[in-house]
Amino acid sequence: MASDDNGLRERIRSDIPHSARVWNAWLGGKDNYPVDRELADAVSAAYPQIVEIAQASRAFQARAVRHLTSLGVRQFLDVGTGLPVANSTHEVAQAAIPDARIVYVDNDPIVLVHAAALLTSSPEGRTAYVDADLSDVDTVVDEATETLDLSEPVAVLLLSTLGHLTPAEGIKVVQRYMARMPSGSHLVLCDTVKTPETLAAQEAYDSGDNPPYLVREPDEITACAEGLELLDPGFGSIAHWRPTEDAPTPVDQWGLVARKP
Ligand SMILES: C[S@@+](CC[C@H](N)C(=O)[O-])C[C@H]1O[C@@H](n2cnc3c(N)ncnc32)[C@H](O)[C@@H]1O
Repeated sequence: MASDDNGLRERIRSDIPHSARVWNAWLGGKDNYPVDRELADAVSAAYPQIVEIAQASRAFQARAVRHLTSLGVRQFLDVGTGLPVANSTHEVAQAAIPDARIVYVDNDPIVLVHAAALLTSSPEGRTAYVDADLSDVDTVVDEATETLDLSEPVAVLLLSTLGHLTPAEGIKVVQRYMARMPSGSHLVLCDTVKTPETLAAQEAYDSGDNPPYLVREPDEITACAEGLELLDPGFGSIAHWRPTEDAPTPVDQWGLVARKP
């Protein structure tokens, strides 16, 4: 990597796990280091369902984006994007609406390095990447407006990401995003709910020097959508949100899709 990379090389730490890379390990990806795989294995030993959760979260994302395109939503702000894997938001959205516009946001340098794979827009549409802390809502939204038209609805995605903030911070941040979005915009949200098993997973995840991940009470997730209208089937295990298979096994990752009136 060139030395004029604005410190990107120094930001990539191979000695402590990074959330995006640990998530990539659970998804069976190759964009991770031994330190990430060690943590991924320690968490899945304490809580084997985490691997299913990672897969279920990606599947929920694809179903939610597809459903929103069927409602005419053509702009997406995917916050806490993670490393590129199959069925990225722009691939799903532009398969239905070729001129859909997507902005990805993450603050992990490794996601930035791999961002080229997220920027393979259809010729009619546009994709962009914002390298920023998701808590800097105004910075993120202001940069996103170079690609998104805020006079038209936008779907804001925060999937398996808010746990990196405290519940109170998470609620404030989501409400700030939705306050900046026009009427008809949507929120797509999912996070891990608190159970004895997920608390054991949290303890295993938070045992190192990596930034912690905090599991949620269900009402700490729904509070993010206060003032919004929940789309059917409402709030619950993401496996049960408009599933494509009969009677899927529930997971401890709960989510919702909600519309700003
Ligand atoms: C568990 S991964 C989820 C990735 C993706 N949303 C998915 O569901 O596949 C969490 C992502 O949030 C990003 N993230 C965590 N804290 C962040 C912050 N303060 N600002 C921006 N991105 C953040 C991480 O870098 C990581 O890519």
